[in-house]
Amino acid sequence: MTDHIFAHEHPESDRARGGGFTLWFTGLSGSGKSTIAHLVGPALDERGQLVEYLDGDTVRTHLSKGLGFSKEDRDTNIERIGWVASRLTRHGAAVICAAISPYEETRRRAREAVEPFGAFVEVYVKASVDECARRDVNGLYAKAFAGELKGFTGVDDPYEAPASPEIVVDTEAETPEESARIVVEKLEELALVGAPVGP
Ligand code: ADX
Repeated sequence: MTDHIFAHEHPESDRARGGGFTLWFTGLSGSGKSTIAHLVGPALDERGQLVEYLDGDTVRTHLSKGLGFSKEDRDTNIERIGWVASRLTRHGAAVICAAISPYEETRRRAREAVEPFGAFVEVYVKASVDECARRDVNGLYAKAFAGELKGFTGVDDPYEAPASPEIVVDTEAETPEESARIVVEKLEELALVGAPVGP
């Protein structure tokens, strides 16, 4: 009797509506996640995808407002991003997530949330702590090294590099444009996006 009420929750029928996927950027603060994400987005748009961004810095101003940087709060942040990504993926969007997401297990749970509805493509944005600290875009590494900011990822808080990401980009060796191209080419190879459409 109640079966049909929940039929819309069935992963296979959801996936059949299809076309959505989640592109999950993980890496240290200042590694280049957002920069690359915002170069990849327009390229996906040109390929006919409906693009949505879930960027850690932005998400923390509303969806995750009030959360800090304890393991528990970071996990909650990532769980929320993963959940929203799964809903958008289900509706066919190309969801671009960019958060440090330092814990392998938590990223795995985000993957599990998304995969019933579409592909989860993990991109490891690789750059050393030294290089990120040299860039120090918002001055937080300097504060962390001075001991003024505790629990900063890569300084006195863990970052677990992904063991088997679908894509690795090395932002110490590549320009942001080169990294973005690598990502888009991989999405083409995986047949998640087609060629650019229209003028
Ligand atoms: S995550 O760990 O929960 O995935 P998220 O990507 O949302 O982190 O936010 C990271 C951003 O918050 C950093 O780019 C930096 O600007 C800021 N930030 C403030 N405090 C910290 C901290 N202790 N560790 C890491 N990033 C921090």
